[in-house]
Amino acid sequence: YPLRHPKEQEWSFAGFTGHYDKQQLQRGLKVYTEVCSACHSMRMVAYRSLADLGYSDEQVKAFAAAHEVQDGPDANGDMYTRKAVPSDYFPSPFANAEAAAASNNGAAPPDFSLIAKARGITRGFPQFIIDMLPGIGGYQEGGPDYIYSLLTGYDETPPAGLEIAEGTNYNPYFAHSAALAMPKPISDDQVTYEDGSPQTVDQYARDVSAFLMWAAEPHLEERKRTGFMVMVFLIVFSGLVYLTKRSVYSGKN
Ligand code: HEM
Repeated sequence: YPLRHPKEQEWSFAGFTGHYDKQQLQRGLKVYTEVCSACHSMRMVAYRSLADLGYSDEQVKAFAAAHEVQDGPDANGDMYTRKAVPSDYFPSPFANAEAAAASNNGAAPPDFSLIAKARGITRGFPQFIIDMLPGIGGYQEGGPDYIYSLLTGYDETPPAGLEIAEGTNYNPYFAHSAALAMPKPISDDQVTYEDGSPQTVDQYARDVSAFLMWAAEPHLEERKRTGFMVMVFLIVFSGLVYLTKRSVYSGKN
């Protein structure tokens, strides 16, 4: 059964001069918080990083305080829950991988910290390499394309003759097989946007994919800027080397 390639999308962060659209990242955070975080953790992202999305210190504090994290042990050796502060990391919805799998038909929802990179190398790389190198993807547009395609790829009827196992859901974009344990997570109008953006699955998928790209690569803009300067330097330097070569070998000395 042939798996489908991700639908290639246009992203503000693609290309040489790519940059994140903060408004979009804020919408993506809302989708993650209200929908995906019920199942998917994001253990390597701290609340304080949300300042990157254009929030003030006060807003970050308030956002963190709306969530609870586990802490401890206290003086009696007990664990306890408390309101999160900006230095805390996003909490996990399940106690551990076993509990996560048990609640999801045996398949644990993967952590989101690096998912946009982990799936980023899907295109053109054999699956066993991806499995060996989780999170080391180099092809950054592939990851969000994949997440977008997966989220918008649910509503098709499976081709005749294809058996979809009980408790799994047909999605031709899933990279491992024709059906995955995650049910269609989001539908139209599920998340309220305050900036007037369309409340559609298409827009939610686009925004949360951009947000996950940021989570996986918060320094993308800086990296691209440095890369651009390196290219400019190399081009100028090549020109100088060429002129030097011409002068040295001109035969006039
Ligand atoms: C897997 C995205 C919400 C349960 C995945 C994968 C992605 C993803 C990218 C990885 C697919 C792969 O391995 O290639 C999202 C997004 C969500 C969301 C963006 C929010 C919009 C949820 C919710 C649940 C859930 C609410 C639980 C009800 C799972 C499970 C898997 C999974 C169980 C593993 C599937 C398998 O290996 O068969 N999700 N998800 N997800 N997700 Fe979600």
